[in-house]
Amino acid sequence: MERILYVPLDTAALAMGADAVADAFRAEAARRGLDLRIVRNGSRGLHWLEPLVEVATPAGRIAYGPVAPEDVLSILDAAWTDGAAHPLRHGPTEDIPFLKKQERLTFARVGLIDPLSIPDYEAHGGFAGLAKALDMAPEAIVDAVTGSGLRGRGGAAFPTGVKWRTVLQTPAAQKYIVCNADEGDSGTFSDRMLMEGDPCALIEGMAIAGLAVGATRGYIYVRSEYPQAERVLAGALRAAREAGWLGDDIQGSGRAFDIELRRGAGAYICGEETSLLESLEGRRGLVRAKPPLPAVRGLFGCPTVINNVISLATVPFILARGAQAYRDFGMGRSRGTLPFQLAGNIRHGGLVEKAFGLTLRELLFDFGGGSASGRPLKAIQVGGPLGAYLPESQWDTPLDYEAFLAISAMLGHGGVVAFDDTADMAALAEYAMEFCAIESCGKCTPCRIGSVRGTEVIRAIREGRDRETRAELLRDLCDTMMAGSLCALGGMTPYPVLSALRHFPEDFGLAAEPALHTA
Ligand SMILES: Cc1cc2nc3c(=O)[nH]c(=O)nc-3n(C[C@H](O)[C@H](O)[C@H](O)COP(=O)(O)O)c2cc1C
Ligand code: SF4
Repeated sequence: MERILYVPLDTAALAMGADAVADAFRAEAARRGLDLRIVRNGSRGLHWLEPLVEVATPAGRIAYGPVAPEDVLSILDAAWTDGAAHPLRHGPTEDIPFLKKQERLTFARVGLIDPLSIPDYEAHGGFAGLAKALDMAPEAIVDAVTGSGLRGRGGAAFPTGVKWRTVLQTPAAQKYIVCNADEGDSGTFSDRMLMEGDPCALIEGMAIAGLAVGATRGYIYVRSEYPQAERVLAGALRAAREAGWLGDDIQGSGRAFDIELRRGAGAYICGEETSLLESLEGRRGLVRAKPPLPAVRGLFGCPTVINNVISLATVPFILARGAQAYRDFGMGRSRGTLPFQLAGNIRHGGLVEKAFGLTLRELLFDFGGGSASGRPLKAIQVGGPLGAYLPESQWDTPLDYEAFLAISAMLGHGGVVAFDDTADMAALAEYAMEFCAIESCGKCTPCRIGSVRGTEVIRAIREGRDRETRAELLRDLCDTMMAGSLCALGGMTPYPVLSALRHFPEDFGLAAEPALHTA
């Protein structure tokens, strides 16, 4: 009887030795004459258990992890008798609490399917959304996306349907769909996991976007540090084309859409949408002034939808299951789910897709299990390198775009990086300014010059040179950067700096700010 074994091909699993584990299973199965088929799936997102190997049994998939090549003999013994006891056995994968408590809509297939198999994708509901879209008027597709309440998952949370409507209503002979897969935020990996684990969801979302706005060409701009995502995407694009889901005549409908892959230039600013377009056109990543919006004059001067991987990969669910089914999740104006990414000093790091509205504390402790070091957590940075550092008094804030804005923070792309009580927040504030100085595109003065001066001022404060006066100077400089920068790199670098100053003044050798002490 054939047995199926799943060994992830995701970068996190590969980094932990998944290829060697797959090879060891293959060799041992051949030696024993076992009929074993190894499927290279995406990651389930339980990083502390990678490589997480699953064995298909009549009772469902049984998880083992973290598996090393030397565990292969004993796992094969246990697995062949249908999941007998083993120290690395976690029981049915779906019952592992970290997974069971999630609400996976966008990530429903990630880790479950073979990312390069179109039949597997279709068997799990894939291409149902695109099939529907092929029979819909463009306005009706845009209405569905608008009605779902989906907002951009790349950082700015702009309503996706509104962006698509602008492109639809801008007449042009050529329009484009550009997928922002640059994923530069610290502690984030959901785009990568999606592209490696369910690339067809992104392909399908982009094709639906093309039908919605009248674009026939798409580009995926993939972060240069993601070679595995690039390989998987290239294979999936080939497979989708061969199966007739991309090309000049999608499923005999007479509608055309195709996608090209482009490797990113390796700079944080190339994730900013106008810089990305410059880079795609072959120039240095330099921010463009807006207006005109990319939706009106984008790639090669044509109307362009530019969306994050997760925004686009969520669209198939909305089309297949209806706008209301997505809208039913979430709170306030934050509808649906967000794939949160737990990283840093956290015991159980990984991907948690949940409806908006749970608290940061629930994420950190119910899912993350507290710090990896066993020491008390001190500060959490949410939303990448431009996100605020949140002290424990703010961990009960619901994960919701507006609730985070109200405390001068942001959810951004959903990255959550934890720090324990050994973290020096003044050093982290200095690092935030230095990061801006290194990554600034140089177009505007508050960011280009301000970030260099800001780094120097924080260093002086840390060295104890006229601290109080320099702290005032730093606050002034932050005001200038927030008010005068052309894009969010200069405009939001003050968020981590000011939050560190406000909530952890003792790390700077300063007294607490009296008025804000309880915030
Ligand atoms: C400095 C900077 C870096 C950014 N990096 C990314 C990125 O890596 N990925 C991304 O999707 N959006 C990034 N963004 C946001 C994009 O400019 C843009 O808002 C997003 O791609 C739009 O897609 P969405 O509406 O689906 O979120 C960045 C913005 C700034 C200011
Ligand atoms: S804020 Fe910084 S990165 Fe943004 S346009 Fe100005 S110089 Fe460039």
